[in-house]
Amino acid sequence: MDHKAYIAERLHVAGVETQEIYASLAVPPDTSLGDYALPCFKFAKVLHKSPALIAEELAQAFPTDGVVSSVSAVNGYLNFKMDRMHLFETFWAEFTAAEMESGYGSSDMGGGKTVCIDYSSVNIAKPFHIGHLSTTVLGGALYRIFNFLGYRAVGINHLGDYGTQFGKLISAYKRWGNREEVERGGIHAINDLYVRFNSEATEEMEAEAREYFRLIESGDREANELFNWFKSLTLSYVGKIYDRLHVTFDSYCGESFYIDKIPAVVEKLKEKGLLVESRGAQVVDLEKFGMAPFIVLRSDGASLYATRDLAAAFYRKETYGFDKCLYVVAYQQNLHFQQLFKVIELMGEPWAKDMVHVAYGMVSLEDGAMSTRKGKVVWLEDVLSRCVEKAKQILSEKNPDLGDKDGVAEKVGVGAVIFGALYNNKIKDTVFSYDKALNFDGETSVYVQYTCARAASVLEKLTDTPFWSGENVQPNEREFELVKALASFPDTVRAAAENYEPSMIARWCVDTAQIFNKFYIECRVVNAETEELRRFRKTLTETANRTLRRALGLLGIGVPEKM
Ligand code: ARG
Repeated sequence: MDHKAYIAERLHVAGVETQEIYASLAVPPDTSLGDYALPCFKFAKVLHKSPALIAEELAQAFPTDGVVSSVSAVNGYLNFKMDRMHLFETFWAEFTAAEMESGYGSSDMGGGKTVCIDYSSVNIAKPFHIGHLSTTVLGGALYRIFNFLGYRAVGINHLGDYGTQFGKLISAYKRWGNREEVERGGIHAINDLYVRFNSEATEEMEAEAREYFRLIESGDREANELFNWFKSLTLSYVGKIYDRLHVTFDSYCGESFYIDKIPAVVEKLKEKGLLVESRGAQVVDLEKFGMAPFIVLRSDGASLYATRDLAAAFYRKETYGFDKCLYVVAYQQNLHFQQLFKVIELMGEPWAKDMVHVAYGMVSLEDGAMSTRKGKVVWLEDVLSRCVEKAKQILSEKNPDLGDKDGVAEKVGVGAVIFGALYNNKIKDTVFSYDKALNFDGETSVYVQYTCARAASVLEKLTDTPFWSGENVQPNEREFELVKALASFPDTVRAAAENYEPSMIARWCVDTAQIFNKFYIECRVVNAETEELRRFRKTLTETANRTLRRALGLLGIGVPEKM
């Protein structure tokens, strides 16, 4: 039920539309005064009265009932209090109905519209380093959130699988590599070869690498076999990381997939008269828009990263008929996407407006020891293992009798890394600290997980108590606060999708867990004063537990039954 609509329909202000009243109703910062407030200042002009008087008069005239229990006028504000029991009833009705379908918080707002999400997009034969963490978990969360809201999300891993570096790799492998070692070492062995090539490369080796790359392109069997082998080793390696992060994709079409689709796009650019020559290269001039030229073909006719993105955009539009196409890529590529979207717009494609660069900031490690070792990048798998290891230590200290320590530590440790990357507004640069991320009392996933485990252990003792079914219990402050927090979950999920900001859900988790813990401390559940109260509180505990789990699940974080 939309409470704001309920209030707005019953509030009559001469010369003011219901719509406007609806939009002006807000949740006051101090909810002891009311659940909703209407500032009357902007009506003063129309009504030729002071805001205080307007509020007084409106309060007098408002028909309170079983939904809105009281109205008061305070300093030009009109404050509404909702009937607590009614609020709970509507929440519980919505909750149970939604849980029978696709879950509380889900909706059909997407109406099946397609959203393509380009995320993770790792580079073949290169380490999966901490820089790929945000795109992977942000994209993964958006993918789940959009599906949850009735969209059809298409997860695309736009692999970096094209370029002269693969020629270098073949050259390095032929010089120093052998099959068993690479099979055994996987991506690490490949990466070592690549690093070695770059540090020892001579003119002659560079030329050889270019030649190998040309062989890949011209379809040479051996070169392609090697390349595909490196690619499959990389994919099986990243696949394990994706499993740990609970991230999935519908397509792994990488840059090389678009090579044969480039001529058609170049043709289109020519038709539109957009292609000009600049020092031998073919470019789209964007000077009018204050941007550097968009280079389509180099002077040797080769395509660039940007060209492949342009071909990919057209391919996605044709293949998926998307309503929105998101690129979850670091803000360092702001200019690239501005140029790309501008070129599509200049080509006269109306869907240029549906392209969104979901830019995010950097995550770095507080732990200097790991990140500053010269020439060493921080591999994400090391960060995950280390965090899981630390989680295991902490869990063993806190609860020596805990069963399935490894399983629990995996959820807590990996969850902490994911949550660390998702908790702040995405554009902010953040520093990841293991200790902060694993603080049981902090703004952390482990705090939320622990809250769920606590709720689960209460529920375990109440299996014989039925859920609330209409008994009249007037909720106290704590209970009421919890109902309101839980009832705000669907709006939070919607806002997270609209703003491409999973952090809104992460923050909701921490806020709601805090509210639940206050409730847990102050209100006896198992030993409640009356049977009615026990049922009511069990119901609150159950809905809190389920909704918090669902929220963490949307972020890609699992919750252990016991901690
Ligand atoms: N592979 C690129 C990188 O690691 C990211 C690709 C992002 N997606 C895209 N369509 N450009 O920097």
